[in-house]
Amino acid sequence: MTDTSHPNPNLVEARALTRVFSSRASLFGKRRSMAAVSSVDLDVPRGQVTGVVGESGCGKSTLARLVLRLIEASSGSVHFDGTDLASLPASGLRTLRRRMQMVFQDPYASIDPRYTVRTALLEPLRVQGMRLDTQAQATRLAALMDMVGLNPALAGSYPHQLSGGQKQRVGIARALALEPDFLVLDEPTASLDVSIQAQIIALLEKLQQELGLTYLFISHDLGLVRYFCNRIVVMYLGRVVEILPTAQTAPRHPYTRALMDSTFEPDPQQRRVVTLLHGEIPDAFHLPEGCAYAARCPNASARCRSEQPELTQDSPHRLACHHPLD
Ligand SMILES: Nc1ncnc2c1ncn2[C@@H]1O[C@H](COP(=O)(O)OP(=O)(O)OP(=O)(O)O)[C@@H](O)[C@H]1O
Ligand code: SF4
Ligand SMILES: [Mg+2]
Repeated sequence: MTDTSHPNPNLVEARALTRVFSSRASLFGKRRSMAAVSSVDLDVPRGQVTGVVGESGCGKSTLARLVLRLIEASSGSVHFDGTDLASLPASGLRTLRRRMQMVFQDPYASIDPRYTVRTALLEPLRVQGMRLDTQAQATRLAALMDMVGLNPALAGSYPHQLSGGQKQRVGIARALALEPDFLVLDEPTASLDVSIQAQIIALLEKLQQELGLTYLFISHDLGLVRYFCNRIVVMYLGRVVEILPTAQTAPRHPYTRALMDSTFEPDPQQRRVVTLLHGEIPDAFHLPEGCAYAARCPNASARCRSEQPELTQDSPHRLACHHPLD
């Protein structure tokens, strides 16, 4: 449910967000650059799950890091609850970070292999300078483990002693340790077996509802995003090509339609995993003029190859395509 009691319904607003990466120059070659994220506007409504979907390399993780200011933007802005993140000094950013946390695809990447579950879950409190006595630490640890469905007996375990699903529960508990209101979930189930994936999605749903959290949920699986998210942002090669204001909105962009062939079913027995997308993704360092999807699009016209389509502004269902589908 959107929080209508607040004057600004969006917890996060990004405008014209752009991040350019440069490749190291080869011995004789020129230094090349590419926009991993290009002129992206993103609204994340309070208390809702906003999905970002697109194929590998389209800029999802770069967008996630920009939104949390874990990396700097080349241009554009991000406002979190009305505050321009770029305007904050390091101390202000550290304070705000309590409110915004990230869950990664591979929890190993975020949990030190030398840490026990106990240490991993209490570390965010320590880093933020919160001094808790032994009793308060034990209470907090038990509450966090219970919240994510981890057996308390695992508190002394190391990451390599845990299953993939248990590790991801630790990753989620760690993200919740500072009681944030915004979570960026970057493919949190992509490395898990399908049945475990469904359990983690159910856990994330429960936490979102019980704690009134706002999620930015990143996935390459449109079926999963349609199952889980209230609204969906579709990216292709660094740009937003379509925004579906509800999960039920029928996509009109040819790329989104092609992505629809991958379907998420909570019941693994019912699941159909097919992603059929033909044609090569263009080299991001040498993007063609016009629509970046033209080489793969069955509807491409001469206009598509010369003129880049802009994202429409006139309705909440926004799309960037010269010949949208019915
Ligand atoms: N630090 C970096 N330096 C140079 N290029 C980068 C860097 N980070 C990302 N890129 C490039 O930016 C593009 C977008 O990468 P990004 O990781 O954001 O994509 P993604 O959509 O998250 O992909 P995946 O689904 O594989 O996680 C890719 O071409 C990638 O190679
Ligand atoms: S603008 Fe043209 S090439 Fe691009 S998606 Fe639309 S129809 Fe296809
Ligand atoms: Mg990624």
